[in-house]
Amino acid sequence: MRELTPDTITDAVLDQMATTPDPRMREVMASAVKHLHAFARDVNLTPAEWIKGIEFMTAVGKICTPARQECILLSDTLGLSALVNGLHDNTAVEEGTHTSLLGPFYRETTPKLAAGSQIAGTVKPGSECVLYGRVSDVKGKPLANATVSIWQTGADGLYDIQENAASVDYRGVFTTDADGIYMLRTVKPIGYSIPMDGPVGAMVRAQARHGMRPAHIHSLVGAPGYRELVTALYLRDDPHLEDDVVFGSSGDLAVDIKPNDPACPIKGLPSIRFDMRLSRESAVDKISGRVGADPSAILKPAAGAGNGHSPASAPVAS
Ligand code: BEZ
Ligand code: FE
Repeated sequence: MRELTPDTITDAVLDQMATTPDPRMREVMASAVKHLHAFARDVNLTPAEWIKGIEFMTAVGKICTPARQECILLSDTLGLSALVNGLHDNTAVEEGTHTSLLGPFYRETTPKLAAGSQIAGTVKPGSECVLYGRVSDVKGKPLANATVSIWQTGADGLYDIQENAASVDYRGVFTTDADGIYMLRTVKPIGYSIPMDGPVGAMVRAQARHGMRPAHIHSLVGAPGYRELVTALYLRDDPHLEDDVVFGSSGDLAVDIKPNDPACPIKGLPSIRFDMRLSRESAVDKISGRVGADPSAILKPAAGAGNGHSPASAPVAS
């Protein structure tokens, strides 16, 4: 029998896992083990640090509910979600608008609204604005009847679901017109802190990071024959555009609020224009899936668990 040492253990594990029938699982797990072992060797991981990591991962899992996804938040704050999004963009057959984080607050259950509707339940004086833009293919051909799901926080920097698991506010699903235009009324987005009351927040604080996201509005766009786009617009003048705690903001997604844009289809309000270009769909889109997930779809409540989550009965976004 070979002697197991810190130098031979990796090969021993890889040899044992080589029987994995699924080739992709074999590849992913072999690489994960190699990198995990290399990391432990690199930092000379101590037993105390190992148990601290186990405790941390346990806390991350324990705090998850259908309305709170701390595992996604951890992935986001480590830049893994943004990396996976970028790798996903690289598989598109055409270069469209780049992906940005779906985040943990997207909801499948979002009401369909008429063009021009106000999505905010509360509109403070001076905060109202229009969001509009054109959905097109990568060459600029307008896409009619595309579905555009929009969501953002309220003026307190919280998503509806963070205030009350059953409420639906600051979100809506719109359909583009014959010119590919979507339009809605909302409130100016503000920067906000990610949830800091859990283990991921403790990690972010221990790293002396601020935990802030720059002001943004999320969108998820779908049109038959085109790759689904998960992205977000970011306000250019936000002080955290360059140091988003979850690495979602990017210069190519930055926009300005214009006080009086003559092209805006709704007059009399400041407006944001955000055009989105979709790549044609390809075979890879059938297997690679959505960039992110509704947390309630990841962790469904156990029967009788009584955690207060009650999905809205509104029409489903996509
Ligand atoms: C968000 O933008 O909704 C978000 C993204 C990642 C972590 C927390 C929030
Ligand atoms: Fe957000």
